[in-house]
Amino acid sequence: MKNTVVNINGQISTGEAALVSVFDRSYLYGDSLYEVVRTYHGKYFGLDEHLERMNSSARLCHMELDQSNEHYKQEMYRTYQEFQNLTGQKKTEVYCRIIVSRGVGKIGFGQLNLLTPTQYTIIVMPLDAPTPQQFEKGLYLKVAQRLRNDRRALDPAMKSGNYLNSLLAYLESVEEHRSGNEEWPQYSKVPGTADDALMCNFDAHITEGTTFNIFYVKNGIVVTPPLDIGILDGITRAEIIKICQKLEIECREVRFPKERLYEADEVFISSSIKEVFPVSRVDDHTIHGGRPGPVTKKLAEAFKKWITDHNE
Ligand SMILES: Cc1ncc(COP(=O)(O)O)c(C=O)c1O
Repeated sequence: MKNTVVNINGQISTGEAALVSVFDRSYLYGDSLYEVVRTYHGKYFGLDEHLERMNSSARLCHMELDQSNEHYKQEMYRTYQEFQNLTGQKKTEVYCRIIVSRGVGKIGFGQLNLLTPTQYTIIVMPLDAPTPQQFEKGLYLKVAQRLRNDRRALDPAMKSGNYLNSLLAYLESVEEHRSGNEEWPQYSKVPGTADDALMCNFDAHITEGTTFNIFYVKNGIVVTPPLDIGILDGITRAEIIKICQKLEIECREVRFPKERLYEADEVFISSSIKEVFPVSRVDDHTIHGGRPGPVTKKLAEAFKKWITDHNE
């Protein structure tokens, strides 16, 4: 991994040199948690909220974190500094992922197999932020057959290192073809096919996307699924709900089937990396003529302003 700097339990190296034990439980069982933040003008945005959510994920998966949020924070900034030193990229905005594993140990579920405290990895790399052209084009989403996990199974409120369910929804919806040679297969997306997937729950209600929350707009009212349907409590989602209140745009948190998206005036997604991002097509239905709608644009601008105001 070029241009990437990694911090494993305080040891910083280049992406190429970074290695984790095969006996790490994140590798053996997906027994880990993670968070993603990005910088704006060289400062991680919403870092406290993300680390707080990681603590709440830890509670949901009965993991006692052996390092404090303050420690993670310091190490995330130290990794960023090392990224700047090692790559010479002082002005680049970065993507930062922190992963905390339950630890390294003997094979077996019981915690008595653990031989270390919780282990952390911090990855810093240049941010691949959406461009204005991509914003204009919007996303083409497909509603996958694969269901979102029930809250009584792998609770979607927990941002764990086990995203296999979402990954399968993605692979089902996004057509990729294999090019390259047999020794080194490479994949590319088939042009004109879906960009990502949405998932329903067992009751055929829309929950969220693979790595984002979902909203639609109908007759000026903004609608998004409620938290208790079983979704990640998105930090961007929560802010959009507050922004709607401030702008006096009605925002409802209600359950709805996929057909509501087909008939919507506008559809958009939210995430820390994509912020507020338009959806131009859901399954076979073009949304708002394939262009970002006025409410989406208004909320996207208001969200950017909120970031500027809160990034001091
Ligand atoms: C499943 C899922 N839903 C929603 C989100 C958006 O969350 P946030 O706005 O906190 O980035 C993410 C982001 O990683 C996600 O993985």
